[in-house]
Amino acid sequence: MRTPIMAGNWKMNKTIVEALDFAKAVKGPLASVKGVEKVICSSFVALAPLADAFKGTDFKLGSQDIYWEEQGAFTGEVSPLMLKEVCQMAIIGHSERRQYFGETDETVNKKIKAALAHGLTPIVCVGESLEQNQAGETEQFVGKQVRAALDGITAGQMADIVIAYEPIWAIGTGLAATADDANRIIGQVVRAAISELYGGTVAGQTRILYGGSVNTKNVEELMQQPDVDGGLVGGASLKPDDYITLAKVAAGVKGSA
Ligand code: 13P
Repeated sequence: MRTPIMAGNWKMNKTIVEALDFAKAVKGPLASVKGVEKVICSSFVALAPLADAFKGTDFKLGSQDIYWEEQGAFTGEVSPLMLKEVCQMAIIGHSERRQYFGETDETVNKKIKAALAHGLTPIVCVGESLEQNQAGETEQFVGKQVRAALDGITAGQMADIVIAYEPIWAIGTGLAATADDANRIIGQVVRAAISELYGGTVAGQTRILYGGSVNTKNVEELMQQPDVDGGLVGGASLKPDDYITLAKVAAGVKGSA
């Protein structure tokens, strides 16, 4: 049984004050919603205030990046030692980081290992570009990204890793993958690659999310797909009412409780 996840990736949005307003708005309405892991990935600076605001709830927090060294002369970076005081998860290898900030399969792999070494759950992002999609290269490219990200990761460590399939052409465009396609790539490419590497049992236990223009209208159909274990949501996760709906739908469709 894979507990679903509804993770908001706020990207570079919300000041601390706005983040706290959001926490106040969602805490009550989602207090009794179980059977879904509720995760907010805010800016680094909002994590500590949010940790306070969500104290005593079952919300989890995540960073949107992480560095692989623990400390030292790495101006501007944030270490896993610092993050583990304020959050439980870390998005790693988001396509925007790969595209604008020089993230590579190698840095993604190092960051995953650093996160795991400090008890943080990586949410590892993979996904193809529009050009790759149109050229029929999706399966090959996404499979390669998954294998590169997991290089040197043990079967035991897989229990602490979440993968997010986010086709780049679907991010922020309003054009989500069809539920069928999301399910097919997640099942037949991402989960299949994990199965090849670690066997069917591990693959069957790994949680794999879909991301890319998830909203309150398409979430139900996406969550109904057997291989889709939740969402990694940008734009719609910024609005408290929308996030409440997304989490409730994930719990309702997938949750055991
Ligand atoms: P949108 O939901 O805004 O398309 O963003 C998806 C995303 O990149 C989440 O990480």
